[in-house]
This record gives sequence, structure tokens and C-alpha cells, in this order.
Amino acid sequence: MTADDQKRISGEAAAQLVEAGMVVGLGTGSTAAWFVKALAARGLDVRGVPTSEATANLARELGMTLSSLDDVKSIDLTVDGADEIGPGLSLIKGGGAALLREKLVWEASARCVVIADAAKHVKALGAFKLPIEVVRFGHPHTGRRLADIAAEFDLPPPRLRTAERGVVVTDGGNVIYDMASGVIADPAALAGALKSVTGVVDHGLFLDLADEALIGTDDGILRLHP
Ligand code: 5RP
Repeated sequence: MTADDQKRISGEAAAQLVEAGMVVGLGTGSTAAWFVKALAARGLDVRGVPTSEATANLARELGMTLSSLDDVKSIDLTVDGADEIGPGLSLIKGGGAALLREKLVWEASARCVVIADAAKHVKALGAFKLPIEVVRFGHPHTGRRLADIAAEFDLPPPRLRTAERGVVVTDGGNVIYDMASGVIADPAALAGALKSVTGVVDHGLFLDLADEALIGTDDGILRLHP
């Protein structure tokens, strides 16, 4: 099975969790896209709350009914991908630069299910660079404060994310700094330190948020709980 096949079966398995009438958080990325497609194919009467413009566009193309987070009181179930799934279903997210809207939607959800291919399941978080969303105003200064925090944790300075067209700007108009690690020994301590910096909007550590993981493997779906 390719990684994409594993993403597809995890997305399809998650789509089976959805019931008619639900408000459903729609994650971002290639795995979440498989979920959105499988959910749309079921033709249920549900309302989707997208976590990015990209996901909103896909869901609209598939004819799904959408609401914004502003317009719903709560979300029954959110399904989203991850860059890494570590011990206790601690996660790194934000590879697709959607971490802020994702975290807002996750935190408004009664149940959060993370879906992924098998390679995302790791013994310790940190091989994937941790994304940190930073407001644009004065971001080089915020970046230097992040470098100080990185040094406290024995990590190299984070780097501003760029792509072919230049600096990557999120749906919220912010920039992303990626913090290289290797192993994040104490994710909760790092999360707290990052949130203490003015200018940091949020970071890609999703701790104590996932209720269940559905991981696509060559042997089928591996279900994990915290
Ligand atoms: C976007 C995310 C994605 O869920 C994460 O990057 C995984 O993406 P993919 O399913 O394409 O591997 O956090 O901000």
C-alpha cells in the first residue's frame, strides 16, 4: 500500500463515524481531503466547518453544506490529519500552515479524530519541524525571541517558512516559523514557553486534544486512544 492509500483508508474509516445531522469539523491536508471526499460521497445531511480556505473550496466543489465557526454553537466531530502522532496522541500539526484555524475548530469540538498514514505514527515528537504561527507585525523580532526559547531547549533557531512565491502567509494573514528539533523531550513545557511570547498566535503542538486516531496501515486501520 502506498502512503496515499493508507491516507485514503483512514479518511474513509473516519467518514463512517459521521451521522446525519452532525456538525463536522473538516481538517486540512491530503489525508483530510480523503475524509471530505468520502463524507461527501455518503450524501448525509451534515454541516461542515472547514479549517482552511483550501478545504472550504474542496467541500464546496463536492456540494457540501458549510458553516463558519462563528455560526455554530459547537461541533460534534472533527476529523483532521497530522504531521506526527506521538505518545498519548500528542500531535504535531501545521505542515499545511492551517494550525490556527485547525486548533480553534478542534477546541470547539466534542470529539476529535486524527487520521494519518502509518509513517506519521512516531515514538517521540520532533522529527517533523514544529510550525509556529506568528503575527506579521515585527515578526523578525518575534523570531529572535523564538530563537532564544529554542536555545533554552537545546534546539537550533526556527526558520521563517518560505515557498516559491516568497514568505508563506496563512489564511489568517500570519507567517510561520518552523522549529527543528529531532526529539521534543517535554512537549508541554515547549508549548507553554512558545505561548508566552507576544506575537506567537499559536503552535502546532496539539496536546490532550485528540480522542482517537485512525491510522491507515498495510494491515488495515489501527485504532489508538490516548
Ligand atoms: C495542515 C495539517 C495537516 O493535517 C498535516 O500537515 C498533515 O497533512 P497531510 O495529510 O497532507 O499529510 O496540519 O496544517
